[in-house]
Amino acid sequence: MTAADLVLHGARLLTLAPLREERPRVGPAAGDVGAVMDGFVAARDGAIVATGHGAALQTVERVEDAVDVDVHGRVVMPGFVDPHTHLCYAGERWEEFASRRSGADYLAVLAAGGGIHATVRATREATDEQLLTLLRRRIGDAVELGTTTIEVKSGYGLEPDEELRQLRLLARAKADAPIDVAVTYLAAHALPAPYTDDRKRFIRDATNAIAAIVDGSLAEAVDAFVEKGVFDVDDVRPLFGAAKKAGLAVTMHADQLNDVGASVFAARMHARSADHVANASAEGIRALARAEIPAVLLPGSAFFVGYPPPDARRFMSARVPIALASDHNPGTSPLEGMPTAIALGVTLCGLTPHEAIVAATINAAHALGRGGRVGALVAGRRADILVLDTDDERELAYRMGAPLIAEVYASGRRVA
Ligand code: NIG
Ligand code: FE
Repeated sequence: MTAADLVLHGARLLTLAPLREERPRVGPAAGDVGAVMDGFVAARDGAIVATGHGAALQTVERVEDAVDVDVHGRVVMPGFVDPHTHLCYAGERWEEFASRRSGADYLAVLAAGGGIHATVRATREATDEQLLTLLRRRIGDAVELGTTTIEVKSGYGLEPDEELRQLRLLARAKADAPIDVAVTYLAAHALPAPYTDDRKRFIRDATNAIAAIVDGSLAEAVDAFVEKGVFDVDDVRPLFGAAKKAGLAVTMHADQLNDVGASVFAARMHARSADHVANASAEGIRALARAEIPAVLLPGSAFFVGYPPPDARRFMSARVPIALASDHNPGTSPLEGMPTAIALGVTLCGLTPHEAIVAATINAAHALGRGGRVGALVAGRRADILVLDTDDERELAYRMGAPLIAEVYASGRRVA
């Protein structure tokens, strides 16, 4: 007998159980959600203790006051993992959004001191308490939409002291968040004014901040915007070298609008993930496949900015693991939550609904270095579980915007 304090039973259960232990999914497995009819999941003290179907439920004993729910007619699946967001900001960019829709170019707006710089100004002006309130609200909104692990980047401070301020606020938000928050130091997002003619000095100062970040356990990874006219591969090489040396993971905004060789570079650096990659070269795709590095597709930014979205088929046919993320940010992707990212991953990037679900769970967990801990309903993993108000999970991709997230459990506790 297994003792449980949470049992959900009678479900269409998507286990997403790893087929090849600890590796992100590629090939036919990239579309296999591990569906089980009349399935159950049982958890105790925040961890899954058993899953199965039918009569096997009889081997699960309920402890006193256990939560026991008959979820017949519903889908039960792992909580979503959102591996790329920029939640730490103040202000909105309505004007820029409108002007881009009438033809303004994203990188030209940035080069003229708007775009990311506009958010940096608004974020610097906000008080710590205001920023914390915004962060907590945004994390809460993500939870309502089924996210149980979320990556959040700094990146709207730019100057190292302001970045450190954001990371300290993120540590506070993480400490009382109902879900797991993976913090990333987005060290090189745009070049701040005091450094206009000295990118090398900027990278040096951004790199020097790593010591304090490691000291305070303020981030797990370092990120940079590697893009034409922003930072090139040579600019960021010392930053990423130092990050790795300090024991941090590295990840990149890679080849989003132009191929600048960032995907090849990400593979060479053994990055945790390469994100955006809408314009990755064939060589970049081969390099990511060889290194088994997940490509995190961010269809929201292609949708809102209006550039051709990343073609998932190019990556999948080369056996690059695919993950999906919201990229929530006030500039390129003001979209909320993973169900919309799933729907756009299908409609814009060419994923099947099941591939999109794999990309939003187990493969997204791998993109955050958590592929052995979350993203699948398997004994021993954290009990991060969703109940969908449907008997067919493909509805996530099909009924875009529908309120399908009925119940959310994080570490075995109901959080939405
Ligand atoms: O993921 N492209 C770089 N960074 C963000 C957008 C930041 C912004 O425009 O505020 C992205 O698209
Ligand atoms: Fe981003």
